[in-house]
Amino acid sequence: MAYLCVNIDHIATLRQARREEEPDPLEAARLVEKAGAHGITVHLREDRRHIQDRDVVGLRKTIKTKLNLEMAATDFMVKFALKIRPDQVTLVPEKRQELTTEGGLSLKSTPGRFEKAIHLLQSKGIPVSLFIDPSSQVIQLSARLGAAFIELHTGRYSRAFRLRGNVRKEFQALAAGARLAQSLGLKVHAGHGLTYQNVKPVAVLPEIEDLNIGHNIIARASMVGLERAVKEMLNILKSVSTQFVH
Ligand code: PXP
Repeated sequence: MAYLCVNIDHIATLRQARREEEPDPLEAARLVEKAGAHGITVHLREDRRHIQDRDVVGLRKTIKTKLNLEMAATDFMVKFALKIRPDQVTLVPEKRQELTTEGGLSLKSTPGRFEKAIHLLQSKGIPVSLFIDPSSQVIQLSARLGAAFIELHTGRYSRAFRLRGNVRKEFQALAAGARLAQSLGLKVHAGHGLTYQNVKPVAVLPEIEDLNIGHNIIARASMVGLERAVKEMLNILKSVSTQFVH
């Protein structure tokens, strides 16, 4: 079975909408682990739109499974990761204006930058994963750069699934990419846009060890939890409303 690492960024998105204390990503991580997930993934973005530095520090101290820190390959973030020591770093591309990570890393343009980050982190015992599109050229380059893992970007597959596009073609690209990566000695993760509806074919690919899933799980959690949350508030109102009957 593929391992599930839950991306809890959007718990922090909701908190940051009010700049208050809740919902707390540390408490969310505790519940995710209690439910049986195998890891916690967070993306510390340059613009700090959701997860904050203090969240990563807190998660490092409290989580019992694995902490996967997604980050850009900048000197600042490499230093931060060396200090925090997550169980794994996933290098991702970052553009300030994007709503979410739109495509895989463009390794070709600055391979030296990635090689340096991979070396600095892995020489200190922090394995590095590269978030890439399932293209054979990029997979081969990832192996040459010395990364321990790749994470195949499943966004095109997910989009094709949602828009009834060429799902077969996009799935085959993922399957072939996973096979090639494994043959080159890379360990394989996958993620982005995976949902309760589209996850099964990806989850059964034998090469894939971890799936990183965020938005869809957090969205579902807000729906399955809403009825209980409303009932709890109504119970409080009922408990104090003996004088006034509407
Ligand atoms: N993997 C990576 C590298 C990501 O950047 C993201 C989104 O932050 C995910 C997985 C999870 O994507 P989603 O939130 O669509 O499940």
